[in-house]
Amino acid sequence: MNNSSLPLVLVTHTLPDGWLGMLKDRCQLVIGPEDANLISKNLETNLHKAEGLFTLLTITIDQELLSKAPNLKVISNMAVGVDNIDLAACTSRGIPVGNTPGVLTDGTADLTMAILLSAARRLFEANLDAREGRWKTWSPTGWLGKDLREATLGIVGMGKIGSAVAERAKGFGMKIIFSDPNPRQEIATRLGAQRVPFEDVLQLSDFISLHIPLTEDTRNLIDEMALQSMKPSAILVNTARGQIIDPNALLQALTNGWIAGAALDVTDPEPLPPDHPLYELPNCLIMPHIGSATWNTRRAMAERASENLLAGLEGRRLPYCVNPEVYQV
Ligand code: GLV
Repeated sequence: MNNSSLPLVLVTHTLPDGWLGMLKDRCQLVIGPEDANLISKNLETNLHKAEGLFTLLTITIDQELLSKAPNLKVISNMAVGVDNIDLAACTSRGIPVGNTPGVLTDGTADLTMAILLSAARRLFEANLDAREGRWKTWSPTGWLGKDLREATLGIVGMGKIGSAVAERAKGFGMKIIFSDPNPRQEIATRLGAQRVPFEDVLQLSDFISLHIPLTEDTRNLIDEMALQSMKPSAILVNTARGQIIDPNALLQALTNGWIAGAALDVTDPEPLPPDHPLYELPNCLIMPHIGSATWNTRRAMAERASENLLAGLEGRRLPYCVNPEVYQV
């Protein structure tokens, strides 16, 4: 089929076969490389003609980029977080922005429990010691960690992912407290989770898990003061966004014993350079932002992002729109 009459869509990254199936016959696709932190050259040269942009969280969408794309009708982020996009600029241009909530809730909640457990039971250190010849015997005091049963889990942000983590944690016998101005109260009530002020989450929790978006209000929310008010035995888990934690304060907290450990799926910056001092600490588990990294989840994210994209191209309301005010004008 000659598809030159179809709308031009830029896809910032190459994705596995089939993930963009629903776009194939309905758009002309210009596709970037597999790994990119910037818009690639072949996309840049087509920006002025593009009607749709399908992007990942590693690409910054700002005023400057928008100014090169006068025909853009929709931006679809294959992620639930949209902190890579200047939403105000998109709204003022009348461009709806889509994201992919829901489909990555379970994957991210599973990963949260995986790294929380890994930190609680010191799996990273224990595995390293085994590999490197320090496993000499079954030592009664070797690699002792923390129990989850009866421990208090403090959840910052009781939305979809936070409450999915709470459900899992309940299965491990944890006591759950949370802070959130607008929580999923039904689930919280069912789990017997107690809403408390943010400061109490910091002071009372044995494990703290972050599930809030990155905004100007949440940037560096976990700063020196917050870290100093946690229990010295506490473990901090972050599968949300790296910039919610002040990285220098975290380094001090882990080195000086303000807290016992951290399990991070997200860091500031990303990627965290291999010579970063956090990698030197045995009480800091670092993952390369893999919360949603299962085959089913990533494919579902690509499909949800495709649905948003097609809706925007056809002038329909995006099924998952993060700037709905764009429809009010
Ligand atoms: C992943 O971090 C996402 O926002 O989807």
